[in-house]
Amino acid sequence: MQDIQWNEHIETLKRALSGNGALLVALDKNERANPMTIGWAQVGIVWGRPTLTVLVRRSRYTYSCLLETPDFTVNVPAEGTLSEELLYCGTKSGRDRDKVDACGLTLKQAQRVQTPIIAECAIHYECRIILRKQLSRADFSAPDVLDEYYQDDDHHTIVIGEIVAAYRT
Ligand SMILES: Cc1cc2nc3c(=O)[nH]c(=O)nc-3n(C[C@H](O)[C@H](O)[C@H](O)COP(=O)(O)O)c2cc1C
Repeated sequence: MQDIQWNEHIETLKRALSGNGALLVALDKNERANPMTIGWAQVGIVWGRPTLTVLVRRSRYTYSCLLETPDFTVNVPAEGTLSEELLYCGTKSGRDRDKVDACGLTLKQAQRVQTPIIAECAIHYECRIILRKQLSRADFSAPDVLDEYYQDDDHHTIVIGEIVAAYRT
């Protein structure tokens, strides 16, 4: 395990996000870890802190987890690995199954947050939730984006987490 700067492996994260995705893990109310594949995320400085922002639609089980849990982790697979697992966690819901078990993934205790990391991934971000903001139709000033992404009104919630630990394993 080697600590990294919050912005050190941004290119790897970006390649994962625009490829098969990365794994966002959140604890549900029974403290079961639920991994969900994400393709959208932003890393930067907000409020003078390194932050990782994720966008999660209201229909996801992960959405209900993020409403209650104080933190989450984002786990980036080494390039070209875990493609089956990413597909599974990006198409099946943790509402009615344990995706960690189903995929044979290994949870490992995080350093600074309650939510565990996924041991099979190469880069890990531990995030303390600072803000949750539910989007609605009225928030958009670009009708083309609304039409393209929100025909069904399944708007994203923006969740901004402070990166409290980042490392590679
Ligand atoms: C490559 C990929 C990227 C995805 N990115 C996102 C995302 O950024 N936000 C989101 O809400 N759903 C995203 N999804 C869809 C969720 O991963 C999917 O609906 C998942 O089954 C939800 O799991 P859950 O119900 O256990 O939370 C993505 C799916 C894939 C395959």
